Amino acid sequence: MELNAFKEQLKSTCDIVDVIGSYITVKRAGTNYRALCPFHNEKTPSFTIYPADQAYYCFGCRKGGDVIRFVMDHEGVDFIIALKSLASRAGLPFPEPSRPGGDRSAGGKSSLKSREQYYSFFDDLANWYRKNLHAPDAGHALEYVRKRALSDAIVSTFGIGYAPDQWRAARAWGERHGHSLAFMVEAGVLSLKQPEDPKSAAYDRFRNRLMFPICNEHGRVIAFSGRKLDPDVAGAKYINNPETALFHKGRVLYGLHLAREGIKSRGFALLCEGQMDVIACHKAGLTNALAPMGTAFTAEQARLLRRYTDTLVIMFDSDTAGTAAALKAVDAFLPAGLKTRVVTLPEGTDPDSLIGERGVVALQERVDEACDFFIFFMENAMRNHDVTTPTGKAEISEAFLTVVARLDSFVGQAEYCRILSQRLKVPEHAVSSELQRILKKQTGAVSSVVASRTAVVAVEPAPIVGSNPESILLQLAVHHQRWAQQLIDELPVSMISQTPSGRALNEVLAMAEQGEWSDAADVLAGKLADYDSGEVGKALFDPDFGRDCESRKLSKAYADCLYRGILIPGIDRTMVDLQTKMQASASRAERTAMQRKIITLRTQKSKLYNRLREGE
Ligand code: UTP
Ligand code: MN
Repeated sequence: MELNAFKEQLKSTCDIVDVIGSYITVKRAGTNYRALCPFHNEKTPSFTIYPADQAYYCFGCRKGGDVIRFVMDHEGVDFIIALKSLASRAGLPFPEPSRPGGDRSAGGKSSLKSREQYYSFFDDLANWYRKNLHAPDAGHALEYVRKRALSDAIVSTFGIGYAPDQWRAARAWGERHGHSLAFMVEAGVLSLKQPEDPKSAAYDRFRNRLMFPICNEHGRVIAFSGRKLDPDVAGAKYINNPETALFHKGRVLYGLHLAREGIKSRGFALLCEGQMDVIACHKAGLTNALAPMGTAFTAEQARLLRRYTDTLVIMFDSDTAGTAAALKAVDAFLPAGLKTRVVTLPEGTDPDSLIGERGVVALQERVDEACDFFIFFMENAMRNHDVTTPTGKAEISEAFLTVVARLDSFVGQAEYCRILSQRLKVPEHAVSSELQRILKKQTGAVSSVVASRTAVVAVEPAPIVGSNPESILLQLAVHHQRWAQQLIDELPVSMISQTPSGRALNEVLAMAEQGEWSDAADVLAGKLADYDSGEVGKALFDPDFGRDCESRKLSKAYADCLYRGILIPGIDRTMVDLQTKMQASASRAERTAMQRKIITLRTQKSKLYNRLREGE
């Protein structure tokens, strides 16, 4: 891969707030973040991070730039080292330098000139396809659009167009606009009659198809997908652009640029199977929908999504293939740290057909009823085996616990063991022993991960179980301004979850930060419905909370929840992660850097333990 493309990939993977936040303490200020500038001495923060632009700027010393510039300046390293450091952090392999003459185009030398040229070519071509939809020879295409219930607004939002039923229409359009054949072949819109011969005749890849532009996350067109209009003609139902320097199927999510707002406002991303389903969701007001490009959901796509949300809802077709794909998605979403639910659609439907048959409300209801991924997995295993026999029960627990073993939470693992034991009507301790056996077996296979993980288990006291730490912190923050203030200083936003309590806590802290703490309880009370959880209401109204509690007890609750419940487990996760990466890294310098980071984390951790002891 070209270095510039890799740089762009890194920038879309490494969120600037997370990266800077791992070096210095950053605080939320409205939609942006503030910090004491690490590049000059100051007492009041003038260093600002702009997540929307993925940029930072210091009003004091006027230093600014993107995430890569920050790593270069903060670590005092050059561009390449900064890229490598970010790559290892993101878990991306650093690309091999390309050999001269080793370009991907058939002609030997790359005809892809600049990124901008590429974008503007696709943009113009998308406009041309769009215009074609209203041409005299496109009557049948427009009729198909109506038949699929695509309104003018939808057609325009998604830029849907039409590729004429001709072998050289796009080719002639491109040539009129000064694009070389080699360029259009490389961009994937023309095919070669003999792919191995760059001089052979080039013709339109997309003919007589409804055209869907594929955009990157910023809304620039980078490829097309075309749906067959004539069922009697041979060829796939959908034809996708081949991969190019800017279009990688495993990285793109169809509709992401349109879904960004919806993901933010609804708090989760809705993953469908294809274009028509994304569009169906938009019709139903589910504007947070997106889809992989006819391929499996990849780890890369999951990481990209994690930049926008920590919650994923999967809504695939209700057939065998769709269910299998949903189950398989665990490989992608677990490493990315996405919490996941799965929608079950009525037999034989997909989102698009469900709307057609039963209307938008039916679809919305299904999404609201999405079920926890692990439970979905368990229920599926229970359908596929005989729950009444010992062998069947053993098979179900083997399948389910193998997935549970990969969950990065002991509490979560324990809870799923409990649920499984109830469903199978077997003793809970048997299920837990089974999980331990699987974990041990995995130690043999992936020794580094689990070994370091068990090492952590051995030395740490168990995290507090029972009440959710965030909901207790929420109670403290709502009722006592001083705890809210202290949380602003001590709890990084990135460690607050997207659960109802987490979001409510986030909101209280945001208000406190803007000097509006005294309104927080009222504001929350006014939108309890948005949180759809009894927990938040309880935090606000529980009459017993904190009454008769001397402040020493409150401060113990605070320390327990924040340090033992959130920060220390967070440090543990980072350390395990670093240890794994360290074992995998071939670069000595990288290993040293990671070792240093681990030492810093250990110090931070022992400080937190000291604080815990002070509170006792
Ligand atoms: P589906 O076959 O489920 O399509 O493929 P669909 O969404 O129901 O489409 P309609 O309603 O028949 O028009 C889901 C996705 O898989 C990819 C496409 O991205 C499609 O949206 N696909 C499907 C292909 O790439 N090629 C194919 O031949 C079929
Ligand atoms: Mn369909």
